Amino acid sequence: MLKSKLPGFLVFSKENIVTKILSPKNPAPLLENAKSFAPANIALAKYWGKRNSELNLPMNSSLSISLDQRGATAMLTATTLQHRLTINHQNVESTTPHGRRLIDYLNLFHAITGVYYHLTLEVNIPFAAGLASSAAVFAAIIQAMNSLHQWHLSYKELSILARLGSGSAARSILQGFVEWHQGENPNGMDSFAEKIPVIWPQLCVGLCIFNVNEKPVSSREGMQRTKTTSPLYANWPHIANTAVTTLKEAIISQDFALLGRTAENNALTMHATMLSAWPPLLYSTQETLTQMQKIWQLRQDGLPIYFTQDAGPNLKILCLQKDMAEINHQFDTIEWVHPFRTE
Ligand code: PMV
Repeated sequence: MLKSKLPGFLVFSKENIVTKILSPKNPAPLLENAKSFAPANIALAKYWGKRNSELNLPMNSSLSISLDQRGATAMLTATTLQHRLTINHQNVESTTPHGRRLIDYLNLFHAITGVYYHLTLEVNIPFAAGLASSAAVFAAIIQAMNSLHQWHLSYKELSILARLGSGSAARSILQGFVEWHQGENPNGMDSFAEKIPVIWPQLCVGLCIFNVNEKPVSSREGMQRTKTTSPLYANWPHIANTAVTTLKEAIISQDFALLGRTAENNALTMHATMLSAWPPLLYSTQETLTQMQKIWQLRQDGLPIYFTQDAGPNLKILCLQKDMAEINHQFDTIEWVHPFRTE
């Protein structure tokens, strides 16, 4: 059951966790195919750093907002001999980095079901440009897998299994505001996401996508480098957990200034911590800084506008619907998301 046993320390593998969750469900019936959509999500209090990099267990809790219709649709069909991948209408070889990661994930389930899968993905956000595409992808796959095999997994189980594909996928199982509890258990069974049952129809997220290039340093590598080399990292878990608490207060009292300030400061603190890693880690470009300064100027002029930034150069604007038109004037291209419109 256990992958390896170090003196006094148990190391759990992904396979152990999948077996633990799915073994009561076997043998599973199989539909011909199954399709599921999962949204991308933007963290307002970020996940940065793993306490277990095999299971994607975080050093801190995080809080996000899901992006409504922007995300990934996964379709799974049982096939023969080997897995197949189709992404946005193109066949993807299992030897490419994206392909390898997806095949490894499918293999976790193949080991239990014996089924080979043809996975078809339709993703309507750019890949790997710090726009949480992998979060949506792994959440959509596990939901489709759950339907295909009729496992009737709970949200908690879906969140744990999505997390094995990509940490932030734990949060993409749900729409709206979502909190991912860091958990304490070494097997990660208490590290899953839950919905914060509050809606905020006025709240808008604007995606300023000026750069769709793949990020030069993956978030996995970036987290590891920051955790092991930044002299500031020791403060990060406490800072992020405090931000989660403050954001929940802001959400409950619908205090937009508090939400915006907390989210923007959390993103900047994460980027400052990354910058103090060695070799230094800088996801911002000159365009990022130009946009930041524009946002700060607009705020100084009285417009309630804030931003957040993930492991990429693009900024995500946070504002209220009443200010959208004015903000649209100020930026070349913003793609708007209304996270609560369909709730
Ligand atoms: O889940 P990953 O490995 O793509 O990491 C996500 C990291 C950030 O987007 C920077 C923060 C977050 O909480 O989503």
